[in-house]
Amino acid sequence: MIIAIDGPAASGKGTLARRLAAHYGLPHLDTGLLYRAVGAACLAAGGLGDAMAAARIAHDLDLTSLDADALRTAEVGEAASVVAAVPEVRAALLDLQRRFAAQPGGAVLDGRDIGTVICPDAGAKLFVTATSEVRAERRFKELSGRGDAVTYDEVLADIRKRDARDSHRAAAPLVQAPDSALLDTSTLGIAEAFAAALALVEARRAGT
Ligand code: DC
Repeated sequence: MIIAIDGPAASGKGTLARRLAAHYGLPHLDTGLLYRAVGAACLAAGGLGDAMAAARIAHDLDLTSLDADALRTAEVGEAASVVAAVPEVRAALLDLQRRFAAQPGGAVLDGRDIGTVICPDAGAKLFVTATSEVRAERRFKELSGRGDAVTYDEVLADIRKRDARDSHRAAAPLVQAPDSALLDTSTLGIAEAFAAALALVEARRAGT
């Protein structure tokens, strides 16, 4: 079974993907980390302006060498959103994601275009969302808890900018797949959101 989970930044999709993967004993890929790794490597190589350099970096990306903690900063998230709009970067990361999804037994993938582009035939698709204010509050707590010197207003502005870029780009924009189940986590705690996600996946598995 392939479970495809999409949604905007800080919607809770990563946490839900990890929990669903643990529940079903499936491997999980946070595809945002791939774009974050490309963005971070471009920043380290001097900037985000060279689309072809970004595509080369994406092509040579080694999944086994990703340092998730170092990639979860606000700066790298913004860089990821910029390189993710480059069609050649997306093309370079496509096979790797499809191979991951094709593992025997299935997989859980989360991102922006899993249900629409990477795994259009996934057995269960969730589109996880929450208001931008709730998402900013979550991301603010996460970043300030790690010692990042950010304000709530900066995080909210960042989230809105990133939503607009991710949703309005030409290549694989963030949109809800028509056959996905919508889960709004704005008023839900983690346990409630997981229970709701599990119920939606189970309903898909049962074909209802
Ligand atoms: O989920 P995240 O915040 O780690 O993602 C970082 C950026 O990567 C996001 O702003 C857009 C991009 N991304 C994408 O375009 N497609 C994906 N499947 C996953 C992430």
